[in-house]
Amino acid sequence: MSAILEIRDLNKSFGGVNATSHVQLDVEQGEIHAIIGPNGAGKTTLIAQLSGELAPDSGEIRFEGRDITNTPMHTRAHMGLARTYQITSVFQDMTLLENVMLAVQAHHGHSFRFWRPTQNDASLTEPAEAALARVGLIDKARHPAHAVSHGEHRQLEIAMALATDPSLLLLDEPMAGMGQEETRGLVEILKGLKVEKTILLIEHDMDAVFALADRISVLVYGQIIATGAPDNIRDNEDVKRAYLGEEAA
Ligand SMILES: Nc1ncnc2c1ncn2[C@@H]1O[C@H](COP(=O)(O)OP(=O)(O)OP(=O)(O)O)[C@@H](O)[C@H]1O
Ligand SMILES: [Mg+2]
Repeated sequence: MSAILEIRDLNKSFGGVNATSHVQLDVEQGEIHAIIGPNGAGKTTLIAQLSGELAPDSGEIRFEGRDITNTPMHTRAHMGLARTYQITSVFQDMTLLENVMLAVQAHHGHSFRFWRPTQNDASLTEPAEAALARVGLIDKARHPAHAVSHGEHRQLEIAMALATDPSLLLLDEPMAGMGQEETRGLVEILKGLKVEKTILLIEHDMDAVFALADRISVLVYGQIIATGAPDNIRDNEDVKRAYLGEEAA
């Protein structure tokens, strides 16, 4: 196996808070690598540095062997590194298809997001429909976004990320706010993306994490305290202590 993403001694602090502290992590090609950790552990801060929204204080990030530590966000996206869009980037009165077409269009360098993309442009409709099919939303392609459920919005965000044909997907709590059935559906969708896409998954739903992850890293107070196969992480004393609190140590 080779690493698609290499993180070396990454540091980021906010005032006195070390949100990312000496983080070392390799994400291997084709794996689903989950990052778990308590609230405020620094998971979102780490993702933001990988996508380029936040600049690290020090350290290095390499993607497919290239140093991207100071590479702008849109260049990283073009290189094949995508994070899910936030719900706010979904236009509620446009159809799911139109929303994904906009993501394709933006990726091709046209950021005129005020106009509806033309429905008869196959260079937009084909990748958009393919992305919707992969997340199980093709039957609702012509529905307006406001008419679909919260879970389907989250699936739509993944389709919008997939439309840019990334090799590495960064997912920050994709199951948040989903019911059990929607979560199980998304677990199956992510399993279907595996191998072709490498996935770095931040998720609080432990059933989903243990169903999906090839490896898990545990982040506590900005530091990775353990990385390993799910069974090793489940039995790790440091991890149990971090989750159960000092009194259980
Ligand atoms: N822009 C910011 N300015 C100041 N402090 C910040 C900022 N962003 C994050 N922090 C702090 O950095 C730490 C890590 O926050 P982060 O959001 O990365 O945690 P998280 O692991 O994603 O938490 P959660 O599970 O709640 O999503 C927290 O102490 C947080 O308050
Ligand atoms: Mg977070």
